[in-house]
Amino acid sequence: MAQTSTKLNVLLIGGGMISEEVVLPTVFQEQRDGRVGEVLVASRRANTLQHLRECFPDRQFRAFPDPTCTPLDESRPDCFREALESLPRPGAVIVATPDHLHTPMIMAAIEAGFDVVVEKPLCLKVDEAWKIREAADKAGAYVYTDYHKRHDRAVRALRHRYREGYLGQMLHGHAWIEERREIPLEHFRLWAHNSSPFEYVGVHYVDVYYFVTGLKPKRLVAFGQKKFLPQHDSDAFDAVQATIEWEDGSVLWVQTAWVNTQKNSALTNQGMQVLGTEGEYWADHKARNLHFATEQNGYEDYNPNFFKAYDSWEHPGEVDWVGYGYESIVQGLNDIGELCAATDGLTGEARLARRREMIAEWAKTRPLPEQALIGTAVNEAVRLSIANNSAYVGFDERLFPKLI
Ligand SMILES: NC(=O)c1ccc[n+]([C@@H]2O[C@H](COP(=O)([O-])OP(=O)(O)OC[C@H]3O[C@@H](n4cnc5c(N)ncnc54)[C@H](O)[C@@H]3O)[C@@H](O)[C@H]2O)c1
Repeated sequence: MAQTSTKLNVLLIGGGMISEEVVLPTVFQEQRDGRVGEVLVASRRANTLQHLRECFPDRQFRAFPDPTCTPLDESRPDCFREALESLPRPGAVIVATPDHLHTPMIMAAIEAGFDVVVEKPLCLKVDEAWKIREAADKAGAYVYTDYHKRHDRAVRALRHRYREGYLGQMLHGHAWIEERREIPLEHFRLWAHNSSPFEYVGVHYVDVYYFVTGLKPKRLVAFGQKKFLPQHDSDAFDAVQATIEWEDGSVLWVQTAWVNTQKNSALTNQGMQVLGTEGEYWADHKARNLHFATEQNGYEDYNPNFFKAYDSWEHPGEVDWVGYGYESIVQGLNDIGELCAATDGLTGEARLARRREMIAEWAKTRPLPEQALIGTAVNEAVRLSIANNSAYVGFDERLFPKLI
């Protein structure tokens, strides 16, 4: 397990929308700025890798499968394992595959001795979340879920003020997050029916409520509708809603959809309001009081805080990617870099002990498996409720959902 360089090498598994738009720009920026060494990308088909080469013509990465010598359309679902064998140490694995495929990739990365950043949600099943948590504990591996809304200052403000006592005790809240219909119709056509707008984006606000309050869910009831997508050859839900009661008796209502009109002024409607015994919070996380209206794109609400390119201060002619989408992934990569550096030269029990000590400290503030379990448990409970005619679902002490 000897470390050969001080820079962190990165393997990205999955070459879809989030990889192209957020993960790779972030990783390449970290490489430009000297914190990341080699970059490897594994996806299921070589044509995805070829497309990424076209998107990032000035950047170098090793592709699995290699588009220069693999039939472009051939499906290679296990090629990520070859990539894992090729990842130099110190290395981090970023998992950005469809929600239902995260677990085998996280487990393989842990088994190969690497640390992980995984796109949210950690996984879709509580028993998988426990397997990941137990494997990570045993190996002393760091597994960070990219719940980027934790880095949104509009959310951090709520957490800080709530924890300072400004809002008193939580009474109730409402969060909404809805996306344009291009998501299930174009981007996720192959797997939308394996997920839902709740599991895909609603879970962000479940995690936000937990991140802000530290409360665990007690029971929930959920509803789902299938009206629009079945007319478009898809068995996915159009919209899903859940009312979640938390352990202190407060209630959060989460409203999600992914069939909003293409004419919406942003990809995502999103926001949150909460009421406490001493005050309230209200935030539109879509309209940040900034819009463009151009011949090219028409009217656009513009969120300067998520993940946007700004003219670089240090690299004239280039851009710097800035925002909570960037900060969240970088928090995971920086932690992994620090962990690898601090344990370089250590072996056996000493290495494991140091790793566990550092990870335990980060587990207080980061969505490591213990915290990411909340989103997974609520996702699974929402599915169970809908499958049972919107019955109430509670949780046992390990957060396994059960009908009540
Ligand atoms: N942090 C966020 O807010 C955020 C935003 C969007 C998406 N996501 C999450 O990121 C993940 C990916 O989303 P996306 O938008 O990129 O989806 P996508 O469908 O556009 O891309 C998924 C990619 O995974 C690849 N893949 C599938 N099976 C594979 C395999 N066996 N080996 C290697 N690659 C494989 C596909 O070929 C595709 O390139 C999902 O979990 C999603 O929920 C997170």
